[in-house]
Amino acid sequence: MPRSAIINVMIQAAMKAGRSLARDFGEVQNLQVSLKGPGDYVSQADKRAEQILYTELSRVRPGYSFLMEESGAVEGDDPQHRWLVDPLDGTTNFLHGIPIFAVSVALERQGTLVAAVIYNPAMDELYTAERGGGAFLNDRRMRVAARRDLPDCVIGTGIPHLGRGHHGRALVDLRNVMAESSGIRRMGSAALDLAYVAAGRMDGFWEDALQPWDTAAGILMVREAGGFVTDRTGGQDIFGTGSVVAGNEAIHRSLLKILQKPDS
Ligand code: IPD
Ligand code: CA
Ligand code: CA
Repeated sequence: MPRSAIINVMIQAAMKAGRSLARDFGEVQNLQVSLKGPGDYVSQADKRAEQILYTELSRVRPGYSFLMEESGAVEGDDPQHRWLVDPLDGTTNFLHGIPIFAVSVALERQGTLVAAVIYNPAMDELYTAERGGGAFLNDRRMRVAARRDLPDCVIGTGIPHLGRGHHGRALVDLRNVMAESSGIRRMGSAALDLAYVAAGRMDGFWEDALQPWDTAAGILMVREAGGFVTDRTGGQDIFGTGSVVAGNEAIHRSLLKILQKPDS
């Protein structure tokens, strides 16, 4: 499968950041037993990974702008291009020694997502997508699952926690989706949730209160794997609303319908 120069640049950067995270993850596993815990260590690991991504991407494309979780927005000379970077998606998993986390990098050109890389270093799984060029998992073409009936489906979600999100609405959504599907998963990494939908491992996914760096790469991945992704109203304002709903055409439609049910 021929890859473009830009996706190669992104793969190199994401894998380098991923290797740094993998080294730090080994230490985090040791720190679980210490009284202080691995909190400070994890935030350093996160920043190190982001620094690697920033250095690598700006070295090969000097003028491009950035939106990074840890360092925020950096305006480049070329406002047409913007990197959206989450150096460590799945921080809570990483902190607890659970090997479900990823580096997520997307490239926007004039506001359109054109390239995406998600890398899970613990499983050595590399997901890539380019606009119009399809989506791949370790060089194998990805397609969303074909199941059309929710009762046959496994659906991913994110559950809000202490100090985050709208707990009441999340419980209503959870109750409604669990009543109609064959299982719900909460993996703890929105980037990997979307990558799993693209890979056909999960049939659908929804979550609220996400940030652009959580979803950017995964959105392109699902679309290039033949799936549908919108905000929870069915519109395209995923970054603005923070909500995301994904699946094949039928499952995406069923999820939207359920998520629009009133609170009571
Ligand atoms: C989080 C993960 C998680 C989602 C959270 C995100 P982080 O990102 O994607 O699955 O439920 O809302 O903030 O903090 O690990 O980069
Ligand atoms: Ca994230
Ligand atoms: Ca993060």
